Amino acid sequence: MEPIRNSFTSAMTLARMGVPHIPSRFVLPPSQRPNPSIPAAAMPVIDISGLHDPAHRPHVIHQVGLACKELGFFQVINHGIPSSLMKDAMDVGAEFFELADEEKKHLVSDDVHHPVRYGTSLNHVKDKVHFWRDFIKHYSHPLSSWIHLWPSNPPTYKEKMGSYAVAVQGLHKQLIGAVFDSLGLRADYLEEDIEQGSQVMAVNFYPACPEPELTLGLPPHSDYGALTILAQTHQGLQIMDHAQSWHFVPATEGALVVQMGDQMEVISNGRYKSMLHRATVNFEKKRLSIASLHSLALEKKVGPAPELVDDQHGSGYKEASFGGFLKHISGNEFTKLGRYIETLKMSPHEDEV
Ligand code: OGA
Ligand code: NI
Repeated sequence: MEPIRNSFTSAMTLARMGVPHIPSRFVLPPSQRPNPSIPAAAMPVIDISGLHDPAHRPHVIHQVGLACKELGFFQVINHGIPSSLMKDAMDVGAEFFELADEEKKHLVSDDVHHPVRYGTSLNHVKDKVHFWRDFIKHYSHPLSSWIHLWPSNPPTYKEKMGSYAVAVQGLHKQLIGAVFDSLGLRADYLEEDIEQGSQVMAVNFYPACPEPELTLGLPPHSDYGALTILAQTHQGLQIMDHAQSWHFVPATEGALVVQMGDQMEVISNGRYKSMLHRATVNFEKKRLSIASLHSLALEKKVGPAPELVDDQHGSGYKEASFGGFLKHISGNEFTKLGRYIETLKMSPHEDEV
């Protein structure tokens, strides 16, 4: 690996230096900057404790279906993951980013196929505009296949992040069953593939930023997987609604954010859309999020569920895979790439040739 590719100035380093202005590479064109005065809107919060109770499950499924259709996202409470487990993972994640650069640089990689990689922005080598974010991404399921590659410092990282990873993987199975149920599919649709599926955790660190109105932590994108389950320490995540307006997702104590990704749009044959979202940064506080991205296995392809293809709803998508997504993003700089989901859409009758 060429040393130049693996050297960069992390957002954390800039924040530590106390720069009064963000360097020009972070400044977005005016049309892409966040609007500082976004009105607060009510966002769906679903109590999922009733999922295991046959008397209450239909009501929960109904709420899940409404939220997926309207926004492609909802928050869950009473999800069964103890708040202490969430807090430990968040705390140890923040500790990792606060380590000296020397302690982290062996994990740097700009290769999107690497199972563990630490970096800044999206891709510090390719990005023309940089984003005010440091991250570590690691494959997480099955945990025993990957955990030896995770950071050994902080010393409790593996244990704390690992416990959270296992808990989220379990929750994801319940949630994907609920989403399938809401689509009229069997709750155990694709069960075997989901069991053998991939979980990638993106731990995102957004230091306090001297000029948050000029930049973003992450640009608008949708996630490649079926579901993403996200925990955030502070408000900062924004989602786009069908009317193309941005909304903050409130940081509700103990709640987890559940987002539909590209694979779910494909499986549902477009009934549910993968949700466009972005991360803003703020002046006073550092913010941490842990996004757990759940998809089928790397090379497993998935198409629309046959039950959701009929005369009125022709098959609207080509098959998607995590590997296909990686190939897509390896191609070019982010701002020049369209979304992966756009490359999968078929024009009517394309499948009938
Ligand atoms: C992601 C993501 C949003 C956030 O990691 O894919 O969208 O709030 N994160 O950190
Ligand atoms: Ni995302």
